[in-house]
Amino acid sequence: MNETSPKIDRAEEDTVAYDVIDGIAWVKFNRPEKRNCMSPKLNRQMLRVLDELEYRDDVGVLVLTGEGTAWSAGMDLKEYFRENEAKGLGATRAAQREAYGWWRRLRWYQKPTIAMINGWCFGGGYGPLFGCDLAFAAEEAQFGLSEINWGILPGGGATKVAVELLPFRKAMYHAMMGENIDGKTAADWGLVNEALPLADLQARVTEVAKVLLGKNPVALKATKDAVRRVGVMAYDEAEDYLIRAQEAANSYDNEGRKEGIKQFIDDKTYKPGLGAYDKSKKA
Ligand code: ACO
Repeated sequence: MNETSPKIDRAEEDTVAYDVIDGIAWVKFNRPEKRNCMSPKLNRQMLRVLDELEYRDDVGVLVLTGEGTAWSAGMDLKEYFRENEAKGLGATRAAQREAYGWWRRLRWYQKPTIAMINGWCFGGGYGPLFGCDLAFAAEEAQFGLSEINWGILPGGGATKVAVELLPFRKAMYHAMMGENIDGKTAADWGLVNEALPLADLQARVTEVAKVLLGKNPVALKATKDAVRRVGVMAYDEAEDYLIRAQEAANSYDNEGRKEGIKQFIDDKTYKPGLGAYDKSKKA
């Protein structure tokens, strides 16, 4: 913002925007004038919005994106760090709980989630980036662990995200050098699923979201949790967990998979190797 631009004092409820269209909740970091950096207000509002959307029947997929030129420029260095430090340790811990709280909520969200990275993505932004199940970036987007550039380590989970998603040497280089990578490199490194030109980003994310909307939602939740859980388990534990998780899923939907088998084996109306069964037809 230059000197002639008006200073915006955004109300807490305006720090996040959302729209639900055809089963997809489009949620936006909404502080474009601050490059969508995460202030305590934004963190509180984001948790409210996630709460509001999670169990709505008209929401099948949640997309997290940013208004303006940024996805998120990480934590708000003034309102999250400096102002809370000035208030004391209790305020810092409270602000951490708010931020980490909604990222954790996202990691275990009931609905499938997609990060649509339209622009800058720094530091603390890696928390919600990892929180989303899938991630699609604009080739023009820029990703960076810039913490080292202003004198801290990549905290708030960012180091963990780098190590989870990147090979060791790339994680170490990324964290130590404070250099940015573009969306294409982020896709090559495995930080996101795909990168494509900004102009095509929303159409691709819509396409992916529509595929997810066609799948059995109970199976999707069981699947996304399983992918996150088994990584830290030994093989035998994972095998056992997956049996239990499927049996638990059956207590929510005991008919879906039977219908899926029936439409293939008996009705011959689809092939599971080529797409999903028609979940509108109940057994
Ligand atoms: N914290 C606080 N304010 C921020 C942040 C942030 N993370 N990012 C941007 N802003 C503010 C700027 O201070 C500026 O405010 P002003 O208009 O009151 O002066 C406004 O947002 C616009 O920012 P510019 O720097 O003017 O925007 P530009 O498009 O030129 O640059 C960029 C964008 C590269 C993202 C730059 O803003 C930047 O480097 N931001 C910080 C990125 C960062 O390192 N974040 C912290 C990561 S570490 C962590 O999250 C723990």
